[in-house]
Amino acid sequence: MAVEEQTILPQFVSSSVQVVRNIVLYVLYVIKLYVIGAIALICQLLEKSAPVRGLPSQSSRTAIVTGGACGIGFHISKQLASLGATVVIACRHKAEADDAIAKIKEDCHNANVVFMQLDLASFKSVRDFAAKFLSTKWPLHILINNAGIMLAPFGETEDGFERHVQVNHLSHALLTSLLKKKMESSAPEGGAARVVNVSSVVHHVASFDPKTFEEKQPHDWSYSPHNAYAASKLAILLYTYALSRRLAEDGSKVTVNAVHPGIVNTGLYHNVHWSISCLMDILKELFFMSPEQAGLSVVYVATSPDLEETSGCYFSNCQKVGSSTLSKLPSLQEDVYTKTCQMLGKKSN
Ligand SMILES: NC(=O)c1ccc[n+]([C@@H]2O[C@H](COP(=O)([O-])OP(=O)(O)OC[C@H]3O[C@@H](n4cnc5c(N)ncnc54)[C@H](OP(=O)(O)O)[C@@H]3O)[C@@H](O)[C@H]2O)c1
Repeated sequence: MAVEEQTILPQFVSSSVQVVRNIVLYVLYVIKLYVIGAIALICQLLEKSAPVRGLPSQSSRTAIVTGGACGIGFHISKQLASLGATVVIACRHKAEADDAIAKIKEDCHNANVVFMQLDLASFKSVRDFAAKFLSTKWPLHILINNAGIMLAPFGETEDGFERHVQVNHLSHALLTSLLKKKMESSAPEGGAARVVNVSSVVHHVASFDPKTFEEKQPHDWSYSPHNAYAASKLAILLYTYALSRRLAEDGSKVTVNAVHPGIVNTGLYHNVHWSISCLMDILKELFFMSPEQAGLSVVYVATSPDLEETSGCYFSNCQKVGSSTLSKLPSLQEDVYTKTCQMLGKKSN
């Protein structure tokens, strides 16, 4: 055998093995995401929605809802406004926010809702948003980190991070840290200011390697938008637990919890593959939860008097539920917290 053939053949075999491995992993991530989604949907259909009554008035309170103009976020904004809160809808498009505000005011005449521009794909936009909010001198009692993207094709943000990681997790972590001091000073007498992070049941199937968390993702078959979404939702949970521990150690008057809102009929599914989008549309209409009901389960965590001292918990259907074994590993929580701070260019204490 010629020398050239001796070196080219093993290289060809090893790169073929790599391609096959990546394709198998890709398919596995797709299957895992749909299986956990189907199981969660069946459980949701079998379980009764928890009745939520008598949430207290939120007048004289201020809330920020990211992605508050559509989907679940719209109903969170609307329900908080109808409880009397001043609501800041933090989203990308003014026209969309204006429509949402008009709809909210139609149903709730005294609603106090305003728009402030926020693009979570840009740390600069997050910093500008926080500076603008802080310049109003309004207090901040509730921060709902709701906005999210799912199954977006590969893409990097202007800050150089994979999109799911930045939009769903990193930018919300940055926003929380920029507003924490304001929340601390706004906490009501004998109570707490509350951060609610919207995670998802799909965190259960995330494959997560903290070593590669901060690395640039390759744009090839080894990139899985299915795992990128699930991993971002796991990162949110891990960060929530680590942050809660720190807040408690500091004797802070801020609490932080995470929520799975349900399997909900919203625009989040617009990136599902065309081959199943028709079936998905039918399933959504027939079986998925309404965004109104999902919004209520988030607003419950943000306002219920029963949860005044609750922090570091994960909720679904207005009940504390267990999260995945991986999410409960303190070492992984600390690792993700530290890496998140490094990625945001902050100190981690
Ligand atoms: N629907 C479900 O079944 C389900 C299940 C579990 C968890 N969740 C979670 O629930 C949350 C709300 O989702 P949804 O179902 O209401 O979906 P949705 O209708 O697609 O709403 C997502 C929101 O996020 C906003 N958003 C996306 N990219 C953004 C960016 N770069 N900067 C600022 N805002 C951005 C969107 O605003 P634009 O209009 O500007 O794009 C929109 O308001 C997400 O975190 C999602 O992961 C949903």
